[in-house]
Amino acid sequence: MIQLIHVSKHYDRRPALSNVTLEIEKGEFVLLMGPSGAGKSTLLRMLIGAERPDDGQVFVHGRNVTSLKKREIPYLRRKVGTVFQDFRLLPKKSVFENVALPLLVQGVSSGDIKRKVTEALRAVGVEHKRDQLPVGLSTGEQQRVCIARAIVNGPVVLLADEPTGNLDPELTGEIIELFKLINARGTTVVVATHDPHVMGRVNSRVVTLAQGVLVPEQRVSA
Ligand SMILES: Nc1ncnc2c1ncn2[C@@H]1O[C@H](COP(=O)(O)OP(=O)(O)O)[C@@H](O)[C@H]1O
Ligand SMILES: [Mg+2]
Repeated sequence: MIQLIHVSKHYDRRPALSNVTLEIEKGEFVLLMGPSGAGKSTLLRMLIGAERPDDGQVFVHGRNVTSLKKREIPYLRRKVGTVFQDFRLLPKKSVFENVALPLLVQGVSSGDIKRKVTEALRAVGVEHKRDQLPVGLSTGEQQRVCIARAIVNGPVVLLADEPTGNLDPELTGEIIELFKLINARGTTVVVATHDPHVMGRVNSRVVTLAQGVLVPEQRVSA
């Protein structure tokens, strides 16, 4: 599903990723750990074509992301959902409209939008908030809406970059449970975090980066 082959990336001659080779299979749940500055976000951005490696190859869902043309990137983004720490919800749009947005830009019919958005909101447990503005929601609910927006297209991969960075330990647990549920339905999930508490909550593969270099793998149990 995801493959990085000898991937390197530098910013101003400083390495952000150094010779990273990594394979993630369809249906896996992977925690991408490492301290701030380790290269986690750079790695995730490469998977959606937002960064290009200086060296190496990146494959996602059978596509060579490294050589994607600009016009092919929207297709990739439909297959790869993303969730970030800062929610990035549109403040003047309702919960429903925020989640509908990725479908609107694709020209999906209003009937299908209604069905898909309702399904996504239900999956994350905020269907009852559909007509509210983001500001009226708790931080945990806002992050759930972001997750709904990320899965509304039925992506094959879900990438989350510090998705619990603004949440307390209890909400962190709830959000991680939600990712596990989405994973259990078949979506490959990659969660990048520097928060060691997240690790205690999942029995999953842990991939650790340190200063842009992959650390040999371990497995943890909750
Ligand atoms: N757009 C950028 N311009 C310059 N340096 C960057 C940029 N993005 C990341 N970096 C640098 O690359 C390294 C890895 O950053 P990042 O991938 O954000 O790490 P993490 O997500 O693990 O905190 C850091 O040294 C960071 O300062
Ligand atoms: Mg980061």
